[in-house]
Amino acid sequence: MSKKTITIGVTGSIAAYKTADLTSRLKKLDYNVRIIMTESATKLITPITFFTLSQAPVITSLWEIPDWKPGHIGLADETNLFVVVPATANFIGKYTNGIADDALTTFALSYDGKVAIAPAMNPRMWNHPAVQKNVETLKERDVTIIEPATGVVACGDKGTGKLESVDKIIEVIQTLV
Ligand SMILES: Cc1cc2nc3c(=O)[nH]c(=O)nc-3n(C[C@H](O)[C@H](O)[C@H](O)COP(=O)(O)O)c2cc1C
Repeated sequence: MSKKTITIGVTGSIAAYKTADLTSRLKKLDYNVRIIMTESATKLITPITFFTLSQAPVITSLWEIPDWKPGHIGLADETNLFVVVPATANFIGKYTNGIADDALTTFALSYDGKVAIAPAMNPRMWNHPAVQKNVETLKERDVTIIEPATGVVACGDKGTGKLESVDKIIEVIQTLV
């Protein structure tokens, strides 16, 4: 059986470093892993890290076109599961509202297969009615939400908003792919 391709969107959350571990572990489980990063994500973790761990080119811009088919369209054709880990409030808002202004959000709208997102943010952001409404809308569209955990978040606040553990994220991925 040919390997399944999991495309991971990485957004500008401080939890983005955990996606490096996720990438490495999915590779060891014998998946093809492709990474698309937002510009904010590249401020928090370098594309080279994901290039090395995924053993594949990382998409960071809509305008770097390696082939006649724009990267996000070619990749959407090959992807078996799209996961966004971590997903910022900003990404969730854009995806819910059909905004496609960078490589990741454009890919998200170009892809019509299974999607899971793992939000990570400050608890006040997570509890904001705008974010909660967007999450509800995504659930109605059959997007799997890997709910954030409760605890102390990176900025020191307590509450719900921590990225779910990599173990749990892998468990969910394996049920979907
Ligand atoms: C150090 C730092 C950490 C951040 N962590 C988060 C986070 O965990 N979750 C979140 O929603 N936004 C976080 N932000 C804010 C986002 O980076 C910001 O909203 C950005 O516009 C997100 O862009 P993107 O969704 O295109 O990646 C953080 C910002 C900084 C400077």
